[in-house]
Amino acid sequence: MSQHEARKDHQPVSPELFRDVIRHLASGVTIITSSAKGGPVGLTATAVCSISAKPPMLLVSLSNTSHTAEGVEESGAFAVHLLSHADKAYAEKFALPKDHFVGIPYHTDEATGVPVLSEALGHLACVVERSIPVADHILFIGRVVGCELNSKHPHPLLYFDRNYRKLSTASETPATNLEPWGSEQDIGLVSA
Ligand SMILES: Cc1cc2nc3c(=O)[nH]c(=O)nc-3n(C[C@H](O)[C@H](O)[C@H](O)COP(=O)(O)O)c2cc1C
Repeated sequence: MSQHEARKDHQPVSPELFRDVIRHLASGVTIITSSAKGGPVGLTATAVCSISAKPPMLLVSLSNTSHTAEGVEESGAFAVHLLSHADKAYAEKFALPKDHFVGIPYHTDEATGVPVLSEALGHLACVVERSIPVADHILFIGRVVGCELNSKHPHPLLYFDRNYRKLSTASETPATNLEPWGSEQDIGLVSA
């Protein structure tokens, strides 16, 4: 029996159990934007993952029924926005089914043509290198063609156990076994 066949014999995990476990994975909250039929589209998303720094690439997972996924497929580009805790209202608004951009200041990114939210903590503009349908989602792998951070002392918006959260740095002692970000020893930045 092949490994693949053996795996098929496992008892299926129910969606409810899966959700009960995975909701305890703390994540950063983002807003992913794109454009469809010339208009802006966007949604609140936690399914964002940095893939590599050389070259800079990231992955997002979007429901295949979302308007935003339709826009990313159509335009071949998207922007991932990082949010401050103060931007919680943005996250709530972009998780609703419509009217995402009403009253929200944004401009068009010259390189990709996607909408960039002017007041977000930062953004990464990407062009799609690959898209992979998986179950009821589409994984979009994007090459970062522009990015910006608007605050040197960010207070990020987090999501954990079905609620928005704030990072409490006061209780943390500095890590002793991590190399500085960008050094050759830093995980994820192993030299070629
Ligand atoms: C905290 C949070 C995280 C979410 N993460 C994702 C995600 O990673 N991918 C996704 O497709 N939808 C995600 N959603 C749901 C979308 O934001 C929501 O379905 C949105 O209304 C879709 O908008 P659209 O159809 O206009 O694209 C999330 C919602 C919340 C509240």
